[in-house]
Amino acid sequence: MKDASPQPVYLADYTPPPFLVDAVHLTFRLHPEKTRVLSRIEFRPTPGVPASRLFLHGENLHLIDAKIDGTAITPEITDEGLTTDAPDAPFTFEAEVEIDPAANTALEGLYLSNGMFCTQCEAEGFRKITYYPDRPDVMGVFTVRIEGDQPVMLSNGNPVARGDGWAEWHDPWPKPAYLFALVAGDLVAQSDRFTTRSGREVDLNIWVRPGDEDKCAFGMAALRKSMTWDEEVYGREYDLDIFNIVAVDDFNMGAMENKGLNIFNSSCVLSTSETATDDNFERIEAIIAHEYFHNWTGNRITCRDWFQLCLKEGLTVFRDAEFTADMRSAPVKRISDVIALRARQFREDAGPLAHPVRPESFIEINNFYTATVYEKGAELIGMLKRLVGDEGYARAVDLYFTRHDGQACTIEDWLAAFEDATGRDLAQFKRWYSEAGTPRLRVTESFNNSTYTLHFEQETPPTPGQPEKHPRVIPIAVGLLGPNGDEVVPTRVLEMTGTRQSFSFDGLAARPVPSILRDFSAPVIVERETTNAERAFLLAHDTDPFNKWEAGRALARETLLAMIRDGAAPDPAYLDAVHTMLRDDTLDPAFRALALGLPGEDELAQTLFGLGETPDPQAIWEAREALDITRADAMQGTLDALYAAHQVTAPYRPDPDQAGARALANAVLGLITRRDGGARALAQYDAADNMTLQLAALGCLLRAGKGADVSDAFYRQWRHDRLVLDKWFGLQILSADPAEAAETAARLTEHPDFTLRNPNRFRAVLGALAAVPAGFHHASGRGYRLMADMLIALDPLNPQTAARMCAAFETWRRYDPARQEMIRTQIDRILAAPGASRDTIEMLGRIRD
Ligand code: ARG
Ligand code: ZN
Repeated sequence: MKDASPQPVYLADYTPPPFLVDAVHLTFRLHPEKTRVLSRIEFRPTPGVPASRLFLHGENLHLIDAKIDGTAITPEITDEGLTTDAPDAPFTFEAEVEIDPAANTALEGLYLSNGMFCTQCEAEGFRKITYYPDRPDVMGVFTVRIEGDQPVMLSNGNPVARGDGWAEWHDPWPKPAYLFALVAGDLVAQSDRFTTRSGREVDLNIWVRPGDEDKCAFGMAALRKSMTWDEEVYGREYDLDIFNIVAVDDFNMGAMENKGLNIFNSSCVLSTSETATDDNFERIEAIIAHEYFHNWTGNRITCRDWFQLCLKEGLTVFRDAEFTADMRSAPVKRISDVIALRARQFREDAGPLAHPVRPESFIEINNFYTATVYEKGAELIGMLKRLVGDEGYARAVDLYFTRHDGQACTIEDWLAAFEDATGRDLAQFKRWYSEAGTPRLRVTESFNNSTYTLHFEQETPPTPGQPEKHPRVIPIAVGLLGPNGDEVVPTRVLEMTGTRQSFSFDGLAARPVPSILRDFSAPVIVERETTNAERAFLLAHDTDPFNKWEAGRALARETLLAMIRDGAAPDPAYLDAVHTMLRDDTLDPAFRALALGLPGEDELAQTLFGLGETPDPQAIWEAREALDITRADAMQGTLDALYAAHQVTAPYRPDPDQAGARALANAVLGLITRRDGGARALAQYDAADNMTLQLAALGCLLRAGKGADVSDAFYRQWRHDRLVLDKWFGLQILSADPAEAAETAARLTEHPDFTLRNPNRFRAVLGALAAVPAGFHHASGRGYRLMADMLIALDPLNPQTAARMCAAFETWRRYDPARQEMIRTQIDRILAAPGASRDTIEMLGRIRD
């Protein structure tokens, strides 16, 4: 067990490393329990930094011996690393350590997954492999020799040589240790070739376990598209002779951008039409792009320290979103991203885990791979781009690449490139990086003598450690519609910088209807008094697809809030508006599917809490149910017609057109099942030749209480496929009556296919429970108890995955005293468990405060 009161690290305490690394030679003698790692590291003192002793990070390492310039040394060893005297001149450090990959259940450092050796080093996992300055501002050139009896042995960079029982790799690009990777096992590759625009021939491989070869084609195509897109849009080429991707079943996160050797959670790369849904395909394409794009935004230019994580993650998420928008539908991508941002990031920003996009302190950095750093970080890039324009953005990014190639950088470096390339002062913009919380933007308006004025007021609520907030620069994209629905003022970006600010539009014949925050131009909450009639007008007429969707969303939300608060009947204005929207065949089916979706239970709870009310999870669930039943009745004929019209008859392709048709048909099927008791869902299930249709039909049947036999059949059909089985585990909880969700989840944790060793499986069950508020927050407290039981079981094995799941409790302050008391009891029980990790202690400590 680790230190019981771990100390935070502060951004303000940053100091440069006393020693730099020129070159590293590593030799791995692989063995499941006794792997030997031999290192030879060429160090030199950092110019201008006072001489000091040499400290190397190292955890859970058994040191066999160490030398400096060939002479044996006896360093001081603690839980955190090794300290020794070192010359004030270049020197060579050598060490041999022994590590135990088989015992590594935390999946950080070198571990075994189904007998395959693999690594995960970001953020601070390399120190579990050997003694090293494990910080991103130390960049070295790595040469790696792997000795073992695995048929395939991979590391970063280019292959140098191989023979019987060994392989050597050399990565010419200096890199921090977190980008190191090694994979060895019985693997087979699907291979391809890509010629970069300057003529470099690159071998592309996706490595999988034998049997999974047929699941790589889509991922390979996505990789090629990503490589082309980065050349065309950002002018960035690949820089090695080989690009390897490996699929690993046991992985804490989605994927990892190790130089030349990306390692993927198998769920984020493997796909066939039978086993993956349309959403899975889109996500796989985005994650392959994301990791590939890191080669420039992350690897060639990396982070100086982990406080700068958003420098690579926010930017790379922004880039992968641009890529998806180009490959598919830009409005559909934007709407989906905002739905996710509000569900995850606004929730985080409104609760005890709120932190700035660039945090100022942490105890465990793994706890900061958050929606705020990633998704809000990407929103900041989007705002910057809007503020400086497309050309300014392109110039600034080019300058950043040329100026900082090969360096470990900060947000200051990034913003300076923008200031220098565009001449714009970004001092105020920088507050977006340092102040947490979602700004509220209150809007009022006035109209006289043909002048229409919008008055804005911004306010950001206090967040933990930040009672005072300052006005931010907010790009507000606005358009105006005339009474007949025509656009009278096209989109214009208003730049708000003050606490209160007004913007006028002259020469208007009549009072317009404003379309505010088009394309969701800033991550803020707009508060404006309006009517459902005006929302319906915007849903019908807005030219901005995001705000068109937003108007429908607001209508649905207001309808549901009234139903939740006083059991009101659904507003006919909403029903009419959504009905009209659905029948508009000029609208993309994917858009219509999104516009048919209702605000989630958690989003509604968050909204109510934001209005000073105490949400009742059961009442929220019932209101959504009631609204669905009403919608199913009110639109019966339309739904039947839409379902029939959106059957895809062509062979399955995971492209946006087919996926959009299936998304609409499946959304409609959910409503149809409310009336027909599952007849059509059963027919769809029986006829399905792809997972998108099969899984949606199973979900409908389970929700209708008619899914038991089909669910058993599904299990028998797919029990050999881990990724499909994860869906099966999750769906039963997501589709259960909330009164039964916790029991269902508990029963599934007893299933022979449940295991704590596989993070995907754990998340399939416990993540699903956390995603059904009326089940998780059931008044019995069963949901809380099960979550705590499972976190106590997982935490000693896998702190990272356990700590992330703790966020299930982050909303506890929203609820009534009885629920709060039950949650506090469970939090305290987890904290008191022997073996509670520092990851989990930090998370629950912040949540409880
Ligand atoms: N850099 C990876 C990405 O592409 C995420 C790795 C996070 N891993 C971790 N253990 N925190 O986003
Ligand atoms: Zn990333």
